[in-house]
Formats: sequence, structure tokens, C-alpha cells
Amino acid sequence: MQYKKRTHTCGDLRAQHIGSSVTLTGWVDIRRDLGGVVFIDLRDRYGKTQVVFNPQTNSEVHALAGELRSEYVISVSGTVQRRPEGTLNASLVTGEIDVLAGELTIITRADTPPFPIEDSIDVQEETRLKYRYLDLRRAPMQKNLISRHKMYLITRKYFDALKFVEVETPVLMKSTPEGARDYLVPSRVHHGRFYALPQSPQTYKQILMVAGMDRYFQIVKCFRDEDLRADRQPEFTQIDVEMSFVDEPDIMSVVEGLMAEFFREICGISISAPFARMTYKEAMEGYGSDKPDTRFDLKFSDVSAIVKGAPFKVFSDNVAKGGVVAGFVAPGCGAYTRSQLDVLTDFTKKLGAGGLVWMRVTEAGIETPVEKFLGKEFLEQIRGAMHASPGDLILLVSDAWSKTYAILGALRLELARRLNLINEKKFNLLWVTDFPMFEYDPAEKRYVAVHHPFTSPKEEDLSLLDTDPARARARAYDLVLNGSEIAGGSIRIHDRDLQSKVFGLLGISPEEAKKKFGFMLEAFRFGAPPHGGIAFGFDRICMILNGEKSIRDVIAFPKTTSAMSLMDDSPSDVDAKQLAELHIKLA
Ligand code: AMO
Repeated sequence: MQYKKRTHTCGDLRAQHIGSSVTLTGWVDIRRDLGGVVFIDLRDRYGKTQVVFNPQTNSEVHALAGELRSEYVISVSGTVQRRPEGTLNASLVTGEIDVLAGELTIITRADTPPFPIEDSIDVQEETRLKYRYLDLRRAPMQKNLISRHKMYLITRKYFDALKFVEVETPVLMKSTPEGARDYLVPSRVHHGRFYALPQSPQTYKQILMVAGMDRYFQIVKCFRDEDLRADRQPEFTQIDVEMSFVDEPDIMSVVEGLMAEFFREICGISISAPFARMTYKEAMEGYGSDKPDTRFDLKFSDVSAIVKGAPFKVFSDNVAKGGVVAGFVAPGCGAYTRSQLDVLTDFTKKLGAGGLVWMRVTEAGIETPVEKFLGKEFLEQIRGAMHASPGDLILLVSDAWSKTYAILGALRLELARRLNLINEKKFNLLWVTDFPMFEYDPAEKRYVAVHHPFTSPKEEDLSLLDTDPARARARAYDLVLNGSEIAGGSIRIHDRDLQSKVFGLLGISPEEAKKKFGFMLEAFRFGAPPHGGIAFGFDRICMILNGEKSIRDVIAFPKTTSAMSLMDDSPSDVDAKQLAELHIKLA
């Protein structure tokens, strides 16, 4: 098909071009037939330009324009003219002009798209994903991909200036399951053996430190077979970082510098470093989350010390057992009805709470179903400790430490949503530090690493590894943005004996450790520098900076929450021959 190449894009033409002969190519956005004159908006990645087909100027071209439909791909040549007074379109950068067509080539015709190519559309996400190329034609999606592209450039420029080296690590690697489930790739050559796709390049980047690379980064795909959510994908992108001869502040300042660049370049906002810090304990006891959203308050108070001697057994017995009674004040919710309170109670019960204790604070006193168990004096002490005023609602949960705070954390977010307390325009960055090394996994009946097995314990907690490992804290840190974990890392263990000890505490036998991580322990025999690093969830940062609610909106070809790619229908069946070559029989 012969067609004229463009002289300008659909976003280029301005008043200064009036009188020029131009050629534009692109997609027909809309066609309007007004009293014999045909108008179209022609669209490409750069914008939209109005094109006019006048039967008086060229009747043949005007007749052909009558065939145009949305999404036809055309080349059109003509003269740039000023739009008549009263028809200027201030919302379009090209809105002062239009192009009076003299030539038209229909390059390809298009079927009617299943949804309009418009900025805001009301269609099911499944349809958008099936016809992703149409979805990606929409301006907001193009903006997201372009913004993502800018973030790659910012990242590479930033790390290069700081002498980091980007090194690619393998995509086919050894399976070292820890955390999520691996995606496995069968080997054709080695019967019965499998590669795994990396959940992250963790082991490789540490080995690069042993190799003397000193400062490594990589924009890298990671693969995790886990339950998906709005901010999780089975394959996602990390900005992976590792540095030698560093402590926490060295890594944090590198990270803060990159975040400042992102905010400046993507949002035009200047953010100040160092970012706020909070220990894991403070985060849990204050906000019920290891990734607290501190854009709003609703901070918790622990009233265990007050209620431990109270005649209310639910509270006092729990405190005697080492549990916690804590809660928060929902400001101005003192007039909540019984049914509103039942909804909140059900919400917490679904999360496993035995119940939710509520107290309406009024001028006359405190209204609560537990008054008969607690008595006025205890109620007054609780109100005082929680700084509640008339018109407020006090909400309390009584359970084991972790359960109490996990339930309160979810309830806090729920109330913030109901009360509209979240300022979506605000960006809130903070570090969470001092995570525990281990948490007990009742299903596996063993400790698992809270971060990963290569994370160093804090120097002052080393002896706890022998006496009370559950209390040992890790040299790990997470970066939290608006209640979302956007990066996580740690200072690593570089000592083989300590690494073996930690494997032991994780229930990994010396034989198993040798089988899974022997290559790394072996590398550590040959001079491992102290090192540490971090990995950013690139998609998540991109989502938040672009004001999106789902990471699927900043990924060109994402999977659904059931890990399907609807456009190309994967995963899909494969030929029996392919399976046979891989020595695989389907059960
Ligand atoms: P971690 O497992 O915390 O650390 O991952 C780092 C960051 O990656 C993002 N992330 C995800 N994003 C989208 N979809 C997912 N399924 C997903 N899983 C994680 C999160 C998270 O903070 N190797 C270590 C890093 C290190 O220690 O240096 C690691 O991978 O934003």
C-alpha cells in the first residue's frame, strides 16, 4: 500500500503552521458529518488533530471520507487553517487549527472496537485485557507507559552517576524456594531436572559482591507463583540493588536520592530526605501494620495496664495471659447506630476477632454494652488515656499481641475509607526497620525468615539466636509509600558460620543447605565483603506515582488475578511432542 509519510504528528500543529501543507497519519478517533462537511479527529500517540473534508475543496476525497470509521488507519494531506471563530478547542493543544484535506489514503480498515478509545471508559477489565492493544491506545494508558519509560531512564542515569554497574543475572536458575512458590522450567537435556525462574536475583547479587563488583543494580523481572492482588503480579519488575562495605544509612540514602529524582521528574514534587523512620514494633503497635499508611491519624493506644485489674474477665484474663487490649478513637463517630456498629463488629469477626468493644463518648458519659462489666471508673480512665471527647467512638480489641494489632490495623484502614480520611494527593514515605528475624509458621511447624534467610541479625541480638530466636531483630528495612511496601532489603550475613546457624534455626539441615545454597556458602569461603542491598517494586512505585489503583494499569501486558493472559490466552496447552521431549506426562 502506497501512502504518504507524515510530515508532523497529530500533536504538533499550532497557529504558526497556518498556511503550511502537511501530511498526518494515524487512527480516526471520531467522524462527524455536519451538513455535507465531514470532520474527523485524527489520533496518534502525540495528540489529536481535526481534519476537515469539504465537498467544495475536493469532492472525490470528501466522498472517500464518508467511508471513514473509528480506528481506520489513514494518511491525510492538506493545508493547515485557522478554525473559524467560536470553534476553537482550548482543551486540545492543536485546538486553534485544523487541516483542510486535499488527499486521503485509507491504509487499513478496522472492525468496530469492543469499547471506545476514550480516556475514561466503563468496561470490564477482562475486556480491556483481552483487547489490550485497544486499551493501550487510550491516552491515560499511553501516559502510564511513557512515564514508566522515563522511570527506567531516571533509574539508569541515577545509578550510573553513583558508579553502580547494571549486571544481568540468569532467568533460568536453580530452584531455591523460600517465600513464594517457584515457577519451574523443565530441562530437555537433563531428564527430570528443572530450572526455576528467579523470585529475585538475591543469591546472584550477593555473589556479585563476592566477585568484587562493589555496586550493582539491575532493572529485572522477578517471578513468584503466589496469590495475586491489586498490587501483585506473578511476573513483576524490581530495581535490584546491592552494595559492599555499607551499613543501613548508606543504602537508605541511595534509595532516598532515587525516590527524590522520581518525585521531581514524574510528579514535579520536591520531597525531603531523610524519610521518617519507625521500628516494626512502633508500626504494629501504632498502626497495626508493617506498612503503615500515615497519611491519616487514627493511632492506637494500649490500655492493657488500665484494664488488667478490671472486673471484666475478657480483658483482664487476656492481659494476664500476655495479651493486649488496645484500640483507637474514631473521631465524630459517637452517633454510630447499632447497625453501623454491628457492621464494624462483623468486619473484625471475619478477621478472627472474638469481638469488638465499642464505647460511644457523650456529654452525659460513656455508652457501651460493657459498662456493667467495667464500671464507670474504668471507662473514664480508658477515655482519658485515649483522649476521646464527646461525639467520639472508642473501638477496642482484646487478643494476643499480633492478632489484636492485625485486626485493629485492618479496622483502621476500613474506618479511614468510610470517613474519607485519606488524602489521595498526599505522598507519605517512611522506613520501617528492626523487623524480627523469624516468625513462626504453624503450618510448617518451624520458623521462617521474615525477610529472607540471608538477612543479618542485629549485632546486639546475636546472643538471642541461642536463647530466644523469636525476639532477635534483623538488619532489615522496608520503604513504605502511602501504606504500600515499595522496597525491601537488608544487610546480609557474610560469615559462613552465622549463615549456617541461621539456616539451622530455619529448619534447613546442613545437607539441605548444601544442596540449595552450597554455591553461595562455597563463594563465601573465598573472601566475602560485608554487603547489603534492597529491591524496589518498580510496578508499585510507578502505580502510585501515576495515581493508579492497580499495578496492571502500569504494566503493558499484565496477567489477571488468576494469572491468565487473556489476550494471548496463556497459560495454554502444548503439543504432546513438546511434553515428550521434556519427559513430562500429564497426570
Ligand atoms: P522483596 O521480596 O521484599 O525483597 O521484594 C522487593 C519489592 O518487590 C515488590 N514485590 C512485588 N511487586 C509486584 N508483584 C509482586 N508479586 C511482588 N512481590 C514483591 C515489593 C517489594 O517491596 N531480594 C529481596 C530484596 C533484598 O533483600 O535486597 C526481595 O526480593 O514492592
